[in-house]
Amino acid sequence: MNMKICLMPGDGIGPEIVEQAVAVLDKVAAKFGHTVEYSNALIGGVAIDATGNPLPDETVAACKAADAVLLGAVGGPKWDTLPGDRRPEKGLLGIRKALGLFANLRPAKLFPELAQACFLRPDIVKDGIDVMVVRELTGCIYFGQPVGREMRDGKMTAFNTMVYDEEEVRRIARLAFDAAMKREKRLCSVDKANVLEVSRLWREVVEEVAKEYPEVELTHMYVDNAAMQLVRNPNQFDVIVTGNLFGDILSDEAAVITGSIGMLPSASLGAGGPGLYEPIHGSAPDIAGQNKANPLATILSVAMMLRYAFSLNDEAQAIENAVQRVLQEGYRTGDIMEEGKSLVGCNTMGNLVAERI
Ligand code: NAD
Ligand code: IPM
Ligand code: MN
Repeated sequence: MNMKICLMPGDGIGPEIVEQAVAVLDKVAAKFGHTVEYSNALIGGVAIDATGNPLPDETVAACKAADAVLLGAVGGPKWDTLPGDRRPEKGLLGIRKALGLFANLRPAKLFPELAQACFLRPDIVKDGIDVMVVRELTGCIYFGQPVGREMRDGKMTAFNTMVYDEEEVRRIARLAFDAAMKREKRLCSVDKANVLEVSRLWREVVEEVAKEYPEVELTHMYVDNAAMQLVRNPNQFDVIVTGNLFGDILSDEAAVITGSIGMLPSASLGAGGPGLYEPIHGSAPDIAGQNKANPLATILSVAMMLRYAFSLNDEAQAIENAVQRVLQEGYRTGDIMEEGKSLVGCNTMGNLVAERI
């Protein structure tokens, strides 16, 4: 198979981690007899520096021309004072919207080898952690209008709008039920229906979609409780479906209970066009350029890409197995380091995984 992949390394640690993920993808392709055709596109801060725009038209075109997109991360202190619609993050939101990527799958899985790096008590994680967060990605307060600032009663006032229409909820709910059908058939919908009208509509629509999936056990949970339950007893969850903002927050939490945010991959999918594969973490400016970043979330995002974009399950599994072997052998980047293990940098971690494909 020939795979056309658009690379968007972005900012901060983005280029370092994408380089390692590409090395692993090249190794998988060589081993399984595939070819990869890469294109490169600018997004985020590097795009602002080069063109003044966090999401140049050429970037959107390059993504649309590819079979799949691999993103590092965007953002950093250099661009933090720019107005909201010219920030690096706007580029990421823009490409998600432009590609119609309404669903973000964030699988939080604890590798048994990292049980010690996990912050939860051993008795809580003894059966592992395996939660799939399905985050809605193109709606909610991230995209709702109006947004702005104005003087109200003599005080500067800022506002964002949280909004979902029923169709947006229906399609993410269906995708989450489908995901649950392939797993333990348990779906927890997370909202704030005790306070927000948006959440009350969300809950109604999820209930309605549930009728199409009689085999799936559906529960509802308020987001504050869900944040607490996730650390108290993560095993109670199989699939979580939630809106854009709650999903952003809960998935960082889900990541750290699996050892580190540097471990959690994601797939952003939509209605058929190219998907975008990215680690859930950011550009980590505090460690950028120091060869300290954990590339495993990005490498595991390549596995998700192989599985979802190309149905190459053996190839995806080969990557996941290689990651597990490297962890078994005791290699750790700083974020998952523990006593008695071997501390390695981003490059070495990538090489070790590639060698084990
Ligand atoms: P962050 O995820 O970049 O970093 C949070 C902490 O986790 C930092 O201490 C960082 O060093 C650590 N960390 C993150 N990824 C790591 C990795 N792979 N290996 C080891 N440690 C890692 O979040 P932040 O500091 O809140 O945000 C920094 C910038 O990234 C901001 O500009 C933010 O907007 C942006 N951001 C981008 C994305 C994205 O591109 N998808 C996601 C989140 C944040
Ligand atoms: C993420 C990030 C983004 C988000 C930001 C950088 C726009 O936090 O991918 O999780 O909030 O979606
Ligand atoms: Mn986030």
